[in-house]
Amino acid sequence: MNKIQNENNKYILGLSTMGSSSASIFKGKELIAAIEEERITRIKNDGGFPIESIKECLSIAGISIEDIDSICVYWRPFQVSTRILAVLKKIIFSLRSNLSIKYTFYRINSIFLNKKKSLYPEDRGSWLDLFFIKKILKRNIGDFQGKIFFIDHHLTHQSYAAAIQNWQNSLILSYDGGGESDSTVISVNLNNELINLKRIKWPNSLGHFYSFFTGYLGFRMLEGEYKMMGLAPYGKPVYKDIILDQILILKEDGSYHFNTKLCDYHGALEGSFNEQLIKLIGYPRINSEDPTEQHLNLASSVQAAFEEAQMHMIKWAKQLYPEIDKLVLSGGCALNVSANGKILNSKLFDKISLPPAPHDAGCSIGAVLAHDYNNGNIFNFSNYKNVNSPYLGRNYSNDEIRNTFSLLNLSIPKKLNDDDLIDFTSTALIEKNIVAWFNGRDEFGPRALGARSFLADPRNDDIRNEINKKIKKRELFRPFAPSVIKEEYGNYFDIKQDSPYMNIVANVLKDKKNIIPAITHIDGTARVHTVAYESNPMYYNLLKKFGEKTGIPVLLNTSFNIQEPIVRSPSDAIKTFLKSGVDLLVIGNYICDTKWKSENLSK
Ligand SMILES: [Fe+2]
Repeated sequence: MNKIQNENNKYILGLSTMGSSSASIFKGKELIAAIEEERITRIKNDGGFPIESIKECLSIAGISIEDIDSICVYWRPFQVSTRILAVLKKIIFSLRSNLSIKYTFYRINSIFLNKKKSLYPEDRGSWLDLFFIKKILKRNIGDFQGKIFFIDHHLTHQSYAAAIQNWQNSLILSYDGGGESDSTVISVNLNNELINLKRIKWPNSLGHFYSFFTGYLGFRMLEGEYKMMGLAPYGKPVYKDIILDQILILKEDGSYHFNTKLCDYHGALEGSFNEQLIKLIGYPRINSEDPTEQHLNLASSVQAAFEEAQMHMIKWAKQLYPEIDKLVLSGGCALNVSANGKILNSKLFDKISLPPAPHDAGCSIGAVLAHDYNNGNIFNFSNYKNVNSPYLGRNYSNDEIRNTFSLLNLSIPKKLNDDDLIDFTSTALIEKNIVAWFNGRDEFGPRALGARSFLADPRNDDIRNEINKKIKKRELFRPFAPSVIKEEYGNYFDIKQDSPYMNIVANVLKDKKNIIPAITHIDGTARVHTVAYESNPMYYNLLKKFGEKTGIPVLLNTSFNIQEPIVRSPSDAIKTFLKSGVDLLVIGNYICDTKWKSENLSK
């Protein structure tokens, strides 16, 4: 019996090896670290084999690969027959359509040889990597003699998501682009027993439906989905009925059909769209042009259809188990924070829960948990430690930060104690400075949660344009999110539960919209981040101090990056700060102000 003895102190590595690659490391039942590959390689959504994240996890744990007892991988490569056939079909199509031989070889290469940069984001990495993991590890890291387990993909999503709250009874929806062959799994957790109620097979995929239209609207597929979501409130859902009638057809049995004849996902990756579809909904957007009213209406319609399909599945499961009042969401589609807010507002459930990394990166954690469940343990992970923390990167000490300044040949800035640092930073925010804030272990997942954040005063509506122009260089329609101390979220937002990972959208209370305009989206909503003292004491104290001085314990919080993955190390942070228009960097207990910046830039 290949059972991991993880009730003791053995080390277990979890891996997500494609899409959003990541590694996690457990010591017995304690999660020690989890890192996304993109944060180290600095390649956005890096889907290559997570060599750098494995090295970093080993380094944080203070061990080598030989100390790892077993490895759990986030999917079962032998179960992907439908996906393999689709890709083979694509290669044959490439040959038939006389595309260049070089290009075809590139496609084959990218599938089988672990090319990091593929024209097809879904093919980044290679299935053969999974068969030869030991060889890759030996070549890049060291000799691994332990066992490797390949885990059902959606089970890894479900396990990580369920482990956040460890409810004894809940409905669980796992939905993404597609796992081995399923794109959606609807389940119930009944007294810590997982029962799958429905599996919806790829290519019927809500994730691919959403990504397809992301491409149709001129954004990069598997990356720009949140941009389409940000655009949606600017339009009207005039195409929603057409979509639900001909493209995303909801079925009585709780499932749905995605019309891939009209919407060829792989064609969209190449920028080609069906003529019949264009007749139905108008021309696709070229990414350099400003969105027209038709594009805004299409974004609104796709979002509305997505929400309807999601509610359709949830309502179907709920009528089977009306007594269950908790819902767990997982999979890449759970990144749709607007849809998450709609579920909470529907009042079908008392509470909803989703992890800080519901997309594939989170599956490296889920794989280890799922393997535990597969070995006969109950579907409850409350005996695990640290699994619900989003702060899973390396903790850099003040000494290490000081060394980084020296290594980069920069002067050592002034250093303050914790209280003075909080006082100084809160005043700087009130004086309309944008603050780059680097504090503690970095976040796991796509959201900055007060460890690697740009912060600003949410009362100042002009700050939005300033951040967009000077720092983020991003589309003006995208909203900024608020952080609020946990005790006060109900005074600002219409939300009946906390949102510690910034993944639920809620209405800003009517009388507060004018008070915190910088974080209020055009439709009056905000992507709320609630901060508890115990999760991040320094960030909580900053919010509290800002609240004491202004009466509002809310800050605008956006990720610390400029068109790159979120910064991870002190070196990333300092370099990004120096090339940005930001006036102040607070890093550990060091303060880099305008004077320090101009002195060091002129060096
Ligand atoms: Fe997934």
